[in-house]
Amino acid sequence: MRRAKQDEMDLWILLGAILAWSCTAPLAIYLYDPKRLRRYPNQNIFSGLTSLAYVYERRNSFRTEILHSQHERHPILRTGPNVLSFGSVAAIKDIYGHGSPCLKDDVYKSITGSHPHILNVVDKDDHARKRRMLSNAFATRNLEQWEFKITDKVQKMIVQFDKRCTDPYLDKCAIASDDLIVNFRFWSNLFTLDAIADIALSERLGLLESGTDLVEGIPSGSTVQNLNFIESLHCGSRTVSRFVGATDWFNSLKVIATLCSPYFRSHLNDFGNIVSMLTDRRLAKQESEETSDFLSCLIEDKAGRIRGLDRGEIEAEASVLRKRRFLHNCKAELITSSTTVDAGSDTTAIALTNVLYYLIKHPNTLKKLRDELSGALAEGETIAPYAKVKSLPYLKACLNESLRLSPPVPRGLERKTPPQGMEILGERIAGGVTVSVPAYIAHRDPRLFPEPESYIPERWLDESEPTKDMRSAFIPFTTGARACIGRNITMMEQQILIATLVQRYDFMLPSPDWKLTWEEAFNLWPSQMPLKLWRREGGSRETDSRRGVQVAEASGFSQ
Ligand code: HEM
Ligand SMILES: *[C@@H]1O[C@H](CO)[C@@H](O)[C@H](O)[C@H]1NC(C)=O
Ligand SMILES: *[C@@H]1O[C@H](CO)[C@@H](O)[C@H](O)[C@H]1NC(C)=O
Repeated sequence: MRRAKQDEMDLWILLGAILAWSCTAPLAIYLYDPKRLRRYPNQNIFSGLTSLAYVYERRNSFRTEILHSQHERHPILRTGPNVLSFGSVAAIKDIYGHGSPCLKDDVYKSITGSHPHILNVVDKDDHARKRRMLSNAFATRNLEQWEFKITDKVQKMIVQFDKRCTDPYLDKCAIASDDLIVNFRFWSNLFTLDAIADIALSERLGLLESGTDLVEGIPSGSTVQNLNFIESLHCGSRTVSRFVGATDWFNSLKVIATLCSPYFRSHLNDFGNIVSMLTDRRLAKQESEETSDFLSCLIEDKAGRIRGLDRGEIEAEASVLRKRRFLHNCKAELITSSTTVDAGSDTTAIALTNVLYYLIKHPNTLKKLRDELSGALAEGETIAPYAKVKSLPYLKACLNESLRLSPPVPRGLERKTPPQGMEILGERIAGGVTVSVPAYIAHRDPRLFPEPESYIPERWLDESEPTKDMRSAFIPFTTGARACIGRNITMMEQQILIATLVQRYDFMLPSPDWKLTWEEAFNLWPSQMPLKLWRREGGSRETDSRRGVQVAEASGFSQ
């Protein structure tokens, strides 16, 4: 009896000691301040003590916007015990520039699954190897050759939009709610998913044709089912972005989230499963069909040789096994590069939604854009050819300005200072400190971007502006060695789709004072955007005899 009591006492003492230590150790480190970070103001009262302070900030649906207002008073803020946020464009070059000694921060390791992929690999050489392999796939030469894949998706989108056209809007009448049948946020996502699946894997997902995001996948331990692709993409981001600042807590928080949230649990592996299944299907085609996509660029080098194997080897019977193994490796590379699907679809869908929103909100801008387009496109040219729109300055300025005002990746992308420390903004920062400059904040520097909250595409054209400084402060794709590899693809998608849509349709938001709102996970997600839509020339519900598309009555379809 006594013995058991004693044991219990010991246990309590031990627990008490652990608790006391876990509270006092951060406080002791905070006070001792070995990295001299106490010079910088804290974001909130717990920022110097625990990384959970940043998780707390996620209660705001738009964390970086709050950070922006805090940075107005302080260029450098401490957002975690070992984390600094820089609210100044002058820090971009130091942290992200090509010569920067910073590496990606350890948070990228914690969000890595079984294999690091190009986006979250931290090691410099490993990254360089992956990037070299992919850069062949992303070369402009290939992109332009894949224009037909984008054109095909634009075509499918307008077939669907034509069906959903309503009567032209007459002044002063209220918009009937059943006229608001195109949720552009959703359709732009179907478009980018269909496009990237074709570009990366020659896969026809057919989402635009079905008007849904259902894709076959195999949830763990189950049979093939239809899964919601967009939901599976967003679920992980929504949950994990809540605690991404808390690297030291990451694994515990993930376990808690999995236990507590059936939503998270059920979608946890859906995305990986879908991509894995798509890649399997693609590899099966490799044997039989001639395909041109990311995967073929991974498999073959520029000269058409299978990487890592010479022709003789491939042709020899004995190499079949090696080839299989090689294909298997490519598959691993690609699945772990599911980022190409992830990074490549959501961000572009966001950008498309934002720019269309800003254009609808600014009729004069829209008119100028249409004037530019009608000068460039021939009569009856339904889908804008890339060659005709790629160098239109006003179109580019409209897209740039939207990426400036609402960068799809708004947050500070974490980098780590080298062990010996470094200078940022002329301040000596110790080694191993997490540092970042959020794009959302850099894009709002009033000295470079006067009236920063206004949508003014002209600022990108006016020669009197300090355009070089503007360019180096404009970081929607970040900059340096880890900058986005997909920027040329996304610009091509945006240029073709936006040029086509604004030439063909007129748009109306639910009401004149309707506003888009945003939720920040990793990406800055715009809300749903219901639109009323009608054809521009000749307008009303009639049959487009040229292509035999029925411009049908409003079907009540709600997506
Ligand atoms: C408007 C659209 C896009 C935006 C705003 C965007 C933004 C970004 C940003 C900010 C990064 C750096 C991430 C970090 O440092 O953690 C990045 C990296 C990357 N993006 Fe994009 N992206 C877009 C479209 C695309 C597309 C279409 C693809 C592929 C088809 C793509 C593929 C990638 C890849 C593979 C990386 C990792 C590059 C590396 O680390 O070497 N992105 N992107
Ligand atoms: C758009 O932004 C890019 C990237 O910074 C820049 O190089 C280009 O000059 C800008 N172009 C226009 C027309 O806005
Ligand atoms: C994008 O295209 C430009 C101009 O064609 C080229 O200089 C640049 O290297 C390309 N960038 C990427 C990431 O492929």
